[in-house]
Amino acid sequence: MRYGYFDDAAREYVITTPETPYPWINYLGSERFFGIISNTAGGYCFYRDARLRRVLRYRYNNIPADSNGRYFYIKDGEDIWNPGYKPSRTPLDFYECRHGMGYTRITGSKNGLRAEQLAFVPLGLNAEVHQLRLTNESQQEKAISLFSYAEFCLWNAQDDMLNFQRNFNTGEVEVEGSVIYHKTEYRERRNHYAFFSVNSPVDGFDTDLESFAGLYEGLQKPAAVTAGKSRGSMASGWQPIGSHQIDLKLAPGETRACTFMIGYVELPEEEKFSSPGIINKTPALSMISAMQTDGQVLKALDDLKAYWSGLLNTYSLSCGDEKLTRMVNIWNPYQCMITFNMSRSASLFESGIGRGLGFRDSSQDLLGFVHQAPDRARERILDIAATQFRDGGCYHQFQPLTKKGNNEIGGGFNDDPLWLIAGTAAYLKETGDFEILDEQVPYDTNPADTGTLMEHLEASFDHVISNKGPHGLPLIGRADWNDCLNLNCYSKHPDESFQTYENPEGPDPRVAESVLIAGMMVAIGPDLAAIQSLRGETEAAQYTREHIALMRQAVLDHGWDGDWFLRAYDAAGRKIGSHEDTEGQIFIESQGFCVMAGIGLEDGKAAKALQSVASRLETEHGIVLHQPAYQSYRLNLGEISSYPPGYKENAGIFCHNNPWIMAAETMLGHGDRAFSLYKKTAPAFREDMSDLHKMEPYVYAQMIAGKDAPRFGQAKNSWLTGAAAWNYYVITQNILGVKPDYMGLRIDPCIPEDWREYTVRRAFRKAVYNIHVSNETRACRGVKSITVDGQRIEGTLLPLFNDGEHRVEVVL
Ligand code: BGC
Ligand code: NOJ
Repeated sequence: MRYGYFDDAAREYVITTPETPYPWINYLGSERFFGIISNTAGGYCFYRDARLRRVLRYRYNNIPADSNGRYFYIKDGEDIWNPGYKPSRTPLDFYECRHGMGYTRITGSKNGLRAEQLAFVPLGLNAEVHQLRLTNESQQEKAISLFSYAEFCLWNAQDDMLNFQRNFNTGEVEVEGSVIYHKTEYRERRNHYAFFSVNSPVDGFDTDLESFAGLYEGLQKPAAVTAGKSRGSMASGWQPIGSHQIDLKLAPGETRACTFMIGYVELPEEEKFSSPGIINKTPALSMISAMQTDGQVLKALDDLKAYWSGLLNTYSLSCGDEKLTRMVNIWNPYQCMITFNMSRSASLFESGIGRGLGFRDSSQDLLGFVHQAPDRARERILDIAATQFRDGGCYHQFQPLTKKGNNEIGGGFNDDPLWLIAGTAAYLKETGDFEILDEQVPYDTNPADTGTLMEHLEASFDHVISNKGPHGLPLIGRADWNDCLNLNCYSKHPDESFQTYENPEGPDPRVAESVLIAGMMVAIGPDLAAIQSLRGETEAAQYTREHIALMRQAVLDHGWDGDWFLRAYDAAGRKIGSHEDTEGQIFIESQGFCVMAGIGLEDGKAAKALQSVASRLETEHGIVLHQPAYQSYRLNLGEISSYPPGYKENAGIFCHNNPWIMAAETMLGHGDRAFSLYKKTAPAFREDMSDLHKMEPYVYAQMIAGKDAPRFGQAKNSWLTGAAAWNYYVITQNILGVKPDYMGLRIDPCIPEDWREYTVRRAFRKAVYNIHVSNETRACRGVKSITVDGQRIEGTLLPLFNDGEHRVEVVL
């Protein structure tokens, strides 16, 4: 069952009922000011950091789900309704929500009045615009009152929901004309305030939640709206909000637009006040003046659309498959950008408080994002690297605002360092900007202690070499990619964190080893060697290759279980992911990375491992993490065995590493297999089962419940997941076969044999390549010939050009 449809020409998903199986959201903002907005206008916004600079308050885990947002109430006689249905939940005559690229347009109509709420963050502005466009579609004049509503957060989102004894006393606002200013804590150490404006005179306002909503009525029927009269309340402590009342008369056919703005202003210390205690409003007023007229708003929306076209046009596919085309051209790269911006911080499943930017997450996000905005990728790489230590280890997470490593979680996740090499290699292949490697980058964000980025990459690699266990395989540390495989934790008490707990009586941390990290080293290490060679550092490259060879051998000697690759050795040296165990006999991760690394290609192990994946892990909804699922808690494994079977890391389907198997299948030339796996988790292909899938059909979710779960096939944790980058990477590079390489663009498709032809338009370095692939011989893989601008070339590497469009004919 569906709850809407794709409008590809407009690059929108159109939701046709407000009661979706879960709130289906979109993201606003592309630079510093961001918001999430659901199909019923729920959500919140923040400036740069969802934890430290939260502008609007949101109550996670509320009932009904998603019940706070930027709401507009229409009081039309006795009827009170919202264009987005919530919070009043008054039935509408028409409802539609269009989630587009960086904007959302929600339309509701009732009793002949049509109300459209257009929400976006204009480029260059630290503010959300909400334009309300009201049209009287009836034959009579309409007299209505429009009430806006948004609730301010007292900035630090964590403290905001913990420290009520203080926070109920600090709230302060100012109101001037149609603008409500939220200035809590501005009197002391803060140099920022928020504002909520509208571009027309108002007939009333409220700034205090209780005065507006009443203490017992709530947002479904706010007291002021029911009365048809704002109270003119001034918040003083308690909960500051912004609400405007605008009374309107609309002739039949008449349209009126009101433009609201929720913005953020930061001021230098000496300019904070215009007179004692009164905030300096000049910057806010200048922002507001930029969105005064309809023309300005339209132009800003057009600019935003043009910005997105620019980003998305870097890679565009034409082929016979509509669903694939919309994933590749629109929604997957869009999600990659959002995930790059947010890392894992703010969604309906990430509270904006828990995690800042993850070292491994952000590094992997680069794989799917780098071609859209290489300059931003460059900055991110340097930021990530700066949270690394001299020994190559690193902080697992860092806060976007301070860019400092997060001490609460610390380090010790031994896969982290390698991902930095992968992300940087992707950047170098895309841009050819080898100069980045000579940038001086701090260790532990200490500007007095730096090394070049190249030294950081080498430290990453050396970290693996100097942290090997008894079998010569990499020590796992706290965990590798699978955050829940906590082999050194041995936690017995529920109040301990699986991520950080170190049991003083626990095992020797220099025993448990990861075959996944081994596979990663063999898969990613060659990029380091290639970079060293290209820089003329022959000896270093040689050293790197020797260590890769040692690791490959260690996997062959100690990482093979007979029909698949082992997953790990635990802290007692026992095999994990082995037929010798009763549960967790086979895991997806090591099959994916070891085959991607090319281990076992020559002697059939790789093929066998993938057959085992197909027969033991694959389901109709994708490949589960492992089988059999753990039925009870195992002290030596940690969080993985804490989840009920089928959910999350206990045998859920992770959309993040399903593509590892797709990539592995392409190593063996299995284009049909790779694409059939792709279709199982790609959201557009799951749209028809939205009632089961539950999450948005336009973006990946982190996890789909596995076959052991009562809700097999149901997705969770949509939007912020490495699934975006990895799926994009694998479909565009391994399957469609357009692969950036250090010295040019490489063409090496691995497709289903019944694909006849397709075209990819790829902007790369300074030129644009129009690549037409034809497959008359029904091959899955194997380039027979390539001509560039009519000239036959040898090999599969397209030459670099200084400009222009170039025609590339590829015959398989
Ligand atoms: C989740 C993991 C996640 C980790 C982050 C765990 O509870 O299951 O998916 O990576 O928390 O801290
Ligand atoms: C989510 C985390 O963000 C990511 O870093 C981790 O690899 C996966 N969960 C798997 O545990």
